[in-house]
Amino acid sequence: MISPGTETRLVGLLGSPLGHSLSPRMHNRVFEKLQMDCLYLPIEVSREDLPTVFAAIKKMNFIGCNVTIPHKLEIIDLLDELDPLAQRIGAVNTVQLTNGRAVGYNTDGPGFLRSLAEEAGITPQGRRFLLFGCGGATRAIAITLATEGAAAVTICNRTVGKAERLAEEINSRISRCAQAIAFSDKEQQSAAEEAEIIINTTSIGMSPDREAIPCPPAIISAHHVVADIVYNPPQTTLLSAAEERGAKVVPGLGMLVWQGAAAFEIFTGRKADVAIMKEEVNRLRTAQ
Ligand code: ATR
Repeated sequence: MISPGTETRLVGLLGSPLGHSLSPRMHNRVFEKLQMDCLYLPIEVSREDLPTVFAAIKKMNFIGCNVTIPHKLEIIDLLDELDPLAQRIGAVNTVQLTNGRAVGYNTDGPGFLRSLAEEAGITPQGRRFLLFGCGGATRAIAITLATEGAAAVTICNRTVGKAERLAEEINSRISRCAQAIAFSDKEQQSAAEEAEIIINTTSIGMSPDREAIPCPPAIISAHHVVADIVYNPPQTTLLSAAEERGAKVVPGLGMLVWQGAAAFEIFTGRKADVAIMKEEVNRLRTAQ
């Protein structure tokens, strides 16, 4: 790691709790590799202290920050400008700070898209997607897919009302590509027959509940691409089942790395070294 001096530029990670975040080490490895005089710092901050801490950060030598749970919505009121995609998503995970001016972005959806492009050679335009879940990550991915011209975005969630609300919002504000379905084997089966890309955006399969799977393996066939945003474990039960059935798979570590790479580029204006980011994340994962 660099030894900080008076010229060192800072990047912060604002959230609580920050316990398991891999972002500080991932970014600091790239700063080191590219010999940049920058330092990425985890800053644990409560909801009530966020306005005060963010006001102070704006006055210091920060070039940006990442924002995580529970501040992705609340940060919006503290910004000077919001990128149009972040506005549609309604959540910000990356803030660029230039001369005290704060601009908010969301790199979760674009990060997912980059991992899909890099690992499966897929761009969303004209494609049919089936998503499991309807949390914050689903919202970012579904809205980004619709914005990029997906032909169909089917949202399958346990609480179907949440999926219906998101589908309605996408259809009325972005494009008429979305529909909601119930979280049942039957609905999943017929939706999978229509879909080309299946994405798990729930926490199902995350450690320690590694055996859990969001759908019956039988709905997956060899023509599918199956992506999982769960990255702990890196190879989920869903991905193993998909591989056994001949489908192409996209593991969650890709989204983690590419959302970070997109944020790095917003902070610094330089291309991130994605190979180094991946190497660091893999090293940290195996050490855990
Ligand atoms: P995030 O904001 O990180 O995406 P979240 O808001 O906690 O995470 O959302 C998790 C999603 O996983 C939710 O859509 C949740 O379904 P509900 O909306 O019905 O709560 C889904 N999920 C989590 N555990 C699940 C389970 N065991 N079965 C089905 N869905 C599950």
